[in-house]
Amino acid sequence: MWGGRFESGPADAARAFTRSFPWDRRLYREDIVASRAHAAMLGARGIIDASDAEALTGGLDRLLQELDEAGGPVDAGDEDIHSYVERVLIERLGDPGRRLHTARSRNDQVATDMRLYVKGLTLRIGRALADLMAALVERAEPDTVAPGFTHLQSGQPVTQGHYLLAIHEMLSRDLDGCYQVFALADVCPLGSGALAGVPYDIDREQAAHALHFSQISRNSMDAVADRDYLLGLLNLGVGILLHLSRWAEDLVIWASPGYAMVEFDDAYATGSSIMPQKKNPDIAELVRGRAGTALGIASGMAATVKGVPLTYGLDLQEDKQALFRMEDLVLPTLEIMREAFATIRFDRERMAQMATAGYATATEIADYLVEQGAPFREAHEIAGRVVSAAIAAGVELVALTDHELQAIDGRLCPELRERLTAGSSVARRDVPGGTAPRRVSLAIDDARRRIELERGRLRELAASGLPVALAPRD
Ligand code: ARG
Repeated sequence: MWGGRFESGPADAARAFTRSFPWDRRLYREDIVASRAHAAMLGARGIIDASDAEALTGGLDRLLQELDEAGGPVDAGDEDIHSYVERVLIERLGDPGRRLHTARSRNDQVATDMRLYVKGLTLRIGRALADLMAALVERAEPDTVAPGFTHLQSGQPVTQGHYLLAIHEMLSRDLDGCYQVFALADVCPLGSGALAGVPYDIDREQAAHALHFSQISRNSMDAVADRDYLLGLLNLGVGILLHLSRWAEDLVIWASPGYAMVEFDDAYATGSSIMPQKKNPDIAELVRGRAGTALGIASGMAATVKGVPLTYGLDLQEDKQALFRMEDLVLPTLEIMREAFATIRFDRERMAQMATAGYATATEIADYLVEQGAPFREAHEIAGRVVSAAIAAGVELVALTDHELQAIDGRLCPELRERLTAGSSVARRDVPGGTAPRRVSLAIDDARRRIELERGRLRELAASGLPVALAPRD
């Protein structure tokens, strides 16, 4: 492909070290579709004969179909997917095949392929996110109380639904991130050539349009050097896994014997080879672990990009590994979390117990005193004394007698006791975004509506934002 100025071919070791086919074979669809758009444009502009262009587009269509049927290209030793596709066309078509690389370089070609791939991947990730969000909402209960923690110490009671919707919010920001990365990738570099543009009367808009890019790149040097869309995708993956990891960490804690608020279904837990009593939350632990792996991939790629002088350097070839490894981390993790969570069991009684454990309704006492006219700081201090009296007596707040309450402060009436239940505590937090069952019910309805809107938006982007051959299938 580039041997003209060399007297000898590369050493076996050098060839093996520098080739990227084993990774970028996964780009075969993007490479073929982008080559097809390029060939059609060359023909339309009279840069190659119309008959050559036709032979090329026909040959590319056939190759795509064959490779789809075969489950992708097999490694025949080609340097990368670009040289593979070109070699096959030359073998099959002869001269027209040799004209495909007119007005193009592998540098703008690989950037085009990668952008197409990233666009499709953001939509597939978006769908998986929407499915997981739907699973969360499906299990959300507006009335079931649960403990809410800060510092992993009993904080205030919340509702189970409120907690699950918090996870839903995190994932909905990730879904926003999918659209942002999609937009970042939605720029067509074709026509940038190796780095300086090409000396042919090409129609960049035509090729971009055929590939459903919404715009063409404005600077050829930036176009071949830029990997921001890839770093964006990697950071999106890290963000998703960080969210899943925090959620998984909660599930590990909740499933532990000390909390015992949830139990994974047998199908999504594992035992110990030595301790027969064990039921390990392995999936949640691995999700936590994979977040670490994802961070390594993203920071590794950022470190790789940081030293590459403008424009292209073969360092950038490492971007395929980062991309596909991230894909292989994120999609299965979203899927397994959806499955494992859909079948998890909540122990509502235990959650109710834990909701008030550790004097979690102590804030109610302070709020009650504020209603009686006490400044909050003073009320907080008195509530603290109530907690210490309960600790000293070894009882829950509700078990303190009228007499004991009165001895601490005359304003502490028996009616206060009704406020100290988890149910009362959550019901009184009836502000927008608060945990009151009434608010949570509304939030669940709203989340359902938003998920349907997002699914529609993802479908619409799949239909309009990518060539049919590259759009994620249902
Ligand atoms: N295999 C290369 C990559 O993945 C394609 C571009 C090669 N360009 C070059 N000038 N060596 O980045």
